[in-house]
Amino acid sequence: MSKVYLNGEFLDPEQAKVSVFDRGFLLGDGVYEVIPVYDGRCFELSGHLTRLQASLDGVRMKNPHSNAEWEVMIDKLIELNGGGDQSLYLQVTRGVAPRDHVFPEGVTPTAFAMSNPLQAVPEKYKTQGAAAITLADIRWQNCNIKAITLLPNSLLKQQAHEAGALEALLIRDGYLTEGAASNAYVVIDGSIYTAPKDEKVLPGITRDVVVDIARSNNIPLFEQAVTEQQLKDADEIWISSSTKEVVAITQLDNSAVSDGLPGPVWKKMDALYQQYKQKGAV
Ligand code: PDD
Repeated sequence: MSKVYLNGEFLDPEQAKVSVFDRGFLLGDGVYEVIPVYDGRCFELSGHLTRLQASLDGVRMKNPHSNAEWEVMIDKLIELNGGGDQSLYLQVTRGVAPRDHVFPEGVTPTAFAMSNPLQAVPEKYKTQGAAAITLADIRWQNCNIKAITLLPNSLLKQQAHEAGALEALLIRDGYLTEGAASNAYVVIDGSIYTAPKDEKVLPGITRDVVVDIARSNNIPLFEQAVTEQQLKDADEIWISSSTKEVVAITQLDNSAVSDGLPGPVWKKMDALYQQYKQKGAV
């Protein structure tokens, strides 16, 4: 039987109950993290906890726990759920209060965590890559905050799913920002390009690892957004996220990207990423 964490307690999932007046439920007033766990250990935990704090600061919400408290709770939850490879989810909402757009005062945030088995990245993504479609980036102006208000992302991802694609690559003002649930990269003449960390993209933890790997292995990488045309003409396209790692996009809007197979720069990056995962070193 799996356990979840809610406001200081480890509970059976069906015993974990949140009030209908919780602002997460009524207003989507909360932030979250998704952290991969390999062999019972969190991957890049300090990066995720730092980003959680940045998201909380971005929505002016109190962090219910110190990093040390999060770490103790997370270790216990992973252990209660049997170790191994897991996908850990943390969520903090502003708490329970009568419905009002204005922030309530003196309310305790709701802290929730669950952990599910981590689905291995399907082998066919490694050998064939995956499909994506381009869509207009309909999200808000604070995409750097990992907010639970995911309706735009969900609509975009659903449209991609109905088109038989894994991901929607988003275009804002003529430039590629990121995926509906991933960061995006293109390779042009051997150099990697990914949008800079600003309010138009989520500062992905996997993206940080990719940037570090590129830098320490002398693979040219520019934190610079590419145009929609550069995306369509790219030699390679990739996406990255905590649950998908780095996946080559080999079909864009029903056309093959280069020869329609994962390219040489992705192969190198994936090998280095797997090495980093094993050894925790770039
Ligand atoms: N999403 N951009 C967006 C919009 C995302 O939702 C995600 C991840 C990323 C990649 O961030 P990271 O490398 O830190 O996972 C970028 C998670 C996995 C989710 O919502 O389930």
